[in-house]
Amino acid sequence: MSPAAVVSGLGAWLPERTVDNHQLSTVLDTSDEWIRTRTGIGLRHIVAPGESTSDLAVAAGRRALESAGTTRVSAVVLATSTPDHSCPATAPDVASRLGLGGIAAFDVAAVCTGFVYALRVGAGLIATGADSVLVIGADTFSTILDPEDRTTRAIFGDGAGAVVLRAGAADEPGALLGFDLGSDGTGADLITVPAGGSRQRSTGVPAAEREHYFAMAGKPVFRHAVLRMSESTLAVRSAVGWTGVDRLVAHQANARILAAVGEQLALTEEQVVLNLDRVGNTVAASIPLALADAVVDGVLPPGARTMLCGFGGGLTWGSAALLWPDLAVQAPPRHR
Ligand code: COA
Repeated sequence: MSPAAVVSGLGAWLPERTVDNHQLSTVLDTSDEWIRTRTGIGLRHIVAPGESTSDLAVAAGRRALESAGTTRVSAVVLATSTPDHSCPATAPDVASRLGLGGIAAFDVAAVCTGFVYALRVGAGLIATGADSVLVIGADTFSTILDPEDRTTRAIFGDGAGAVVLRAGAADEPGALLGFDLGSDGTGADLITVPAGGSRQRSTGVPAAEREHYFAMAGKPVFRHAVLRMSESTLAVRSAVGWTGVDRLVAHQANARILAAVGEQLALTEEQVVLNLDRVGNTVAASIPLALADAVVDGVLPPGARTMLCGFGGGLTWGSAALLWPDLAVQAPPRHR
């Protein structure tokens, strides 16, 4: 039987600069009240000029390696949709800066589902012979937001989170027990950066400036998110044979989405992990950042039947189930 992928380390990192709702409302037509009521978000962390996705990924990766008590892994899989450059991938640079040597390192792009996709890829590498894999989710969406778009600027923040997977047995705490991944390309236009890719560049016509910014159709995305996240988590719960779930640690896009999915899983408010009030939607970093905050806050106990779930651009979605392991985790830095 092929080995199981076991979560053996967890780390997270946030850039130092923060922007709270009151600060946003001084430059945009918005308010703390609107943002909190419609999304649950209170604060987001934003990279400084010159700071990039790889900087956050290296810091989170280092913490995950420390948490796992190791300095070596067989591969790095980096989930990001804001790589340092459109070519090459960012993961090789991250692996080198972490001193990991000439190992396999590549990016996975599935926007807000990126971390769950990357976990699945990491588990696949372990099933086919890798000893251990560093899986990182890191994004700096502040670098692609339209400065005049009050909706997206209210929601997105920057950050990174990472786990170490090692080869182990399926009955160990931390073993990834089941996955569900999906996509629907007919919804590609709902979450997009219209310009900058081959579709636009091949025309030879320079893009209008705003087309380089991220755009999202909030309402349909909201509806798709609730539906797909509910279906996906229920599918994994049934596939792994659980009668219930103790903790939902899902992509932190909107507190109302998380409440609706929690309801489908018959969870109480306390069983749905929320940290978006302090970090906003950090895209591929969202789930590992929420895991790290939950461990540090003592709301994710070892042994909890834990469901991870992401939803995002593509459209893409995915879930994974594990019994939460006993890990030493440092608090993500907060600079409030
Ligand atoms: N401050 C004040 N008003 C705002 C605002 C802001 N930051 N952003 C939008 N509004 C306004 C809109 O302009 C609109 O005004 P109008 O009625 O005069 O046209 C009104 O608020 C309602 O906008 P709407 O888009 O219908 O709000 P909503 O309740 O759908 O909330 C989102 C918007 C983006 C928060 C919500 O749709 C959402 O969370 N979508 C899902 C995001 C997601 O899951 N992403 C995951 C993948 S990344």
